[in-house]
Amino acid sequence: MTAAFRYRLSGGGRDVQSVEDYRRLARRAVPRMVWAYIDGGAEDMRTVAANRSAFDRWQLRQRVLTGHPARDDLSVTVAGEALEVPIVLAPTGLTGMSHWTGEAAVARGAERAGTRMVLSSAATYSVEEVAAATREHHWFQLYPWRDRELMGSLMSRAARAGAPTLVVTVDVPIHGGRELELRHGMATPPVLTPARVIDAAVRPRWWYGLFRHRRVTVRHLEEQGGVRGAVRSVQRQARLIRVDLGWDDVAWMREQWRGRLLVKGILDPEDAVRALDVGADGVVVSNHGGRQLDGAMASLDALPAIAEVVRGRGEVLMDGGVRRGSDVVKALCLGADAVCIGRPFLYGLAARGEDGVVDVLRILRSELARTMTLMGVHKLGDLDPTWLVRTGGGR
Ligand SMILES: Cc1cc2nc3c(=O)[nH]c(=O)nc-3n(C[C@H](O)[C@H](O)[C@H](O)COP(=O)(O)O)c2cc1C
Repeated sequence: MTAAFRYRLSGGGRDVQSVEDYRRLARRAVPRMVWAYIDGGAEDMRTVAANRSAFDRWQLRQRVLTGHPARDDLSVTVAGEALEVPIVLAPTGLTGMSHWTGEAAVARGAERAGTRMVLSSAATYSVEEVAAATREHHWFQLYPWRDRELMGSLMSRAARAGAPTLVVTVDVPIHGGRELELRHGMATPPVLTPARVIDAAVRPRWWYGLFRHRRVTVRHLEEQGGVRGAVRSVQRQARLIRVDLGWDDVAWMREQWRGRLLVKGILDPEDAVRALDVGADGVVVSNHGGRQLDGAMASLDALPAIAEVVRGRGEVLMDGGVRRGSDVVKALCLGADAVCIGRPFLYGLAARGEDGVVDVLRILRSELARTMTLMGVHKLGDLDPTWLVRTGGGR
């Protein structure tokens, strides 16, 4: 078998041109249960849909004969780090379910593309394993849990492993209603029926990777055995979540963490100001990819008002629904310093492992450069709201 043929069989080649193409490949690569976890959202998935449609309400201005192509340099400095693209890989839990190479492969993919991954506190590779598998220092995400001893110990481990930035996710006081996951038996342990076992067995590569490497549990917590016993499952991790969470919890984390700190899951300008007031260096405008409060506003819709109050005091990242380079342009025009992507890199990973992650980032980067050139924009720093036109039908 020639290399080129193997590549096409593995899903590479000219038929894979966009993030949506990777989505189709990923859907075939994993069992329905895992697909429900990756691609699903909360309840009626209104916010999942809103995250996408919000981008359609903005059109791009096109200026012609401007005499300059977009610069090759698409770098930005975010959280004190120079990134080659304004795209960070968002934290995603249980990434080993998409492909057994999990967060280690995603982090390596990120650095091959000149950016960083945020390692989820629900990751299937521990912070030490990811550090050992990579050259660069990646960021670490943590929920404010009820157990400060456990949080303190995880923050120390992340700092020792070299994580320069802590991302504190604040939109999970309880888990969202992930009905699709429950319908397909996605739980810990999974609810297996003969049909679900067959559905997995017809994907022997995925099946073998899962059984051989068993990247299905939260490794940070497993290795935390000395502190609190092995807290293996996501359900047990969910028990750590506190409904009565307050800003004093984030303030406490700020006191413990010496590096940069971003608060993720902000949709309201008043909350953005609170985050800065407790010492955050910036916020991530996010609705958790529509996986938490169904009916929450689209991240892109929330962005302009938040960017306005944060400007000059901190940084603004946004995530939710970014699938094209033109989406990145719109987010930057509306005040984001950079965007994060979640599902797009999971599609790449599920379809083709680490190379798929790199390819998704390559696609987005080239779309971003092409969009800017066609608009007549020279450099990222020139993007501002004057480059957008609001279409009818929006709010
Ligand atoms: C499968 C999956 C798992 C996720 N796990 C986490 C997590 O552990 N921590 C977190 O802060 N956000 C988590 N998120 C949310 C992402 O960080 C991000 O906000 C979201 O995926 C962005 O939307 P997008 O998928 O449309 O790009 C998860 C998202 C997905 C799709």
